[in-house]
Amino acid sequence: MSDEPAGPGAGASPWVPDHPTLASLRGAVQECHGCELWQHATQGVMGEGRDDAPLILLGEQPGDKEDVAGEPFVGPAGKLLDKALDAAGIDPEDVFKTNVVKHFRFSGTRGKQRIHKSPSRVHVSACGPWLMAELAVVRPTGVVLLGGTAGKALYGSGFRVGESRGRMLDWPEAFEVRRPPAWVLPTTHPSAVLRTRGRQHAFEELVADLRIAADAL
Ligand code: URA
Ligand code: SF4
Repeated sequence: MSDEPAGPGAGASPWVPDHPTLASLRGAVQECHGCELWQHATQGVMGEGRDDAPLILLGEQPGDKEDVAGEPFVGPAGKLLDKALDAAGIDPEDVFKTNVVKHFRFSGTRGKQRIHKSPSRVHVSACGPWLMAELAVVRPTGVVLLGGTAGKALYGSGFRVGESRGRMLDWPEAFEVRRPPAWVLPTTHPSAVLRTRGRQHAFEELVADLRIAADAL
């Protein structure tokens, strides 16, 4: 397989409305069978935020809490993300939060908690049309990539967060949008911050990256 991003696949296309609004996307994703992930998820989770937000924050997939609530980033990673946005001086009103994959990828249970595993390239590609529709509606100035799955989705399997974080990248050409974002900024995923031993340091690094985004808005 090549390292080049393939661009969004056809998977979800038949379910994506032609002239979408955020409200119509939220309804339509509930019908999507563009890959098999809908089968074990409670619901599809589209992005949340204003349809003219200047910044999109792009995560991986809904977690346990998000799958139940139907909203992205409402669990522990989302709480940490909100703290980091606040510390970076980014108004929550200016942010549209979403994920590269709209259904939770169930992989088993740990106690009461349902756990997920990373989506495969096939899922990411199949789900791409939903992300493209969100981008077409919101038309952000910038996109912050939260972690490796978001980075690989846009830049291919050779993408490494450690090598690219905190550096402004150009929008990848394989993802054709009418008004592409002016820049893309990769950083760590908030759940990776929660998992590291030096959590405070990792948190400060996340905030430092978000400040770069704040300055560019
Ligand atoms: N992690 C993500 O990548 N997205 C969410 O919505 C929640 C946790
Ligand atoms: Fe459709 Fe994406 Fe859900 Fe797969 S993960 S069923 S492509 S919405």
